[in-house]
Amino acid sequence: MAVLSEILIKAGIAGLGTYVPEQIVTNADLEKIVDTTDEWIVARSGIRERRIAPPEMAASDFAVIASQEAIADAGITAAEIDLVIVATNTPDMLFPATACLVQDRIGAINAGAFDLAAGCTGFMYAYIVGSQFIATGAYRNVLVIGSENLSKVINWKDRKTCVLFGDGAGAVVLRQADPGSGILSYRLWSDGSGGPLLRQPAGGSRLPASHDTVDNNLHYLHMKGRDIFKFAVRATGKAATEVLAAAGLGKSDIDYFIPHQANVRIIEAAAKRLGLPREKVLINVDRYGNTSTASIPIALAEAVHSGKIKKGDHLLMVGFGAGLTWAAAVVKW
Ligand code: ACO
Repeated sequence: MAVLSEILIKAGIAGLGTYVPEQIVTNADLEKIVDTTDEWIVARSGIRERRIAPPEMAASDFAVIASQEAIADAGITAAEIDLVIVATNTPDMLFPATACLVQDRIGAINAGAFDLAAGCTGFMYAYIVGSQFIATGAYRNVLVIGSENLSKVINWKDRKTCVLFGDGAGAVVLRQADPGSGILSYRLWSDGSGGPLLRQPAGGSRLPASHDTVDNNLHYLHMKGRDIFKFAVRATGKAATEVLAAAGLGKSDIDYFIPHQANVRIIEAAAKRLGLPREKVLINVDRYGNTSTASIPIALAEAVHSGKIKKGDHLLMVGFGAGLTWAAAVVKW
């Protein structure tokens, strides 16, 4: 468990940006392509609509737009960025890294760049990894992005998964926080034994793309939803409790809980375990579905830009996803 001592530099968020595609796909639209109903989707997941990108766009395109907004919001130029980290499960291609495509397109000419894969926990992992470069004093500005084009890896004939996901991106610029604010505690977890519960089996070196893998739908996302549900509720509650204790805070100190947006039932169950009232929980899964690594930065950016989150607020952020991975942080805004 990382408890950040007072003498360490703390990373803060200096700018935020988002991108969601214009096209809204409602549950009624999905009723026309798979055997499902609006009632089932809302009751089981809380999702009412999601954004789906046009076929010519890919994860780097979303990341570029979100990054440009975050950089402008931070009041810096792209040349001042020292490092670009893209958390994604849907990179434009296996290599080069999507982060390098973004680095080039935004003109971050002085930055290193790499992708980070930690399932839907990717943003939290990247945020915590990026903050280390700030904490050591090595870098001044680190750009962290969560970007997903999940609509391209979903089997649109599989009602168990296609109703759940959406496209989008969120970006933050990390910089040394004002005294007294920034990341107060954090922790990363993993349990690789749960890998088979959520994966895209083909397209890597174990099962390279072939006619067979395509014929058998192995290039699509596969998920054991019920098992992931149980894991997510358990992991979110435990992770939140641990990082709160590490930060020396109680549940009542939390102003906003920002969980990964996968399913409103997971969020509500976790909030109940933590004893957090509804008004302290940020939820947008109803509008965007599960945007994986983009979900936490989009929820955060919306709440900051609308004025909901104010300076001095304590935020509890928890992500979980494929790997299995999960991660949490307590932040003073
Ligand atoms: N419409 C109608 N019926 C459906 C649909 C659908 N879209 N999908 C499944 N069903 C049916 C199933 O076929 C099943 O029918 P059967 O009993 O006749 O076989 C029935 O509904 C119940 O299916 P379950 O999968 O048991 O339903 P459950 O209550 O578990 O809800 C859900 C499914 C919504 C997927 C839930 O398990 C869930 O949210 N799990 C977590 C998923 C998640 O968070 N994934 C991402 C985590 S990490 C990341 O973000 C990548």
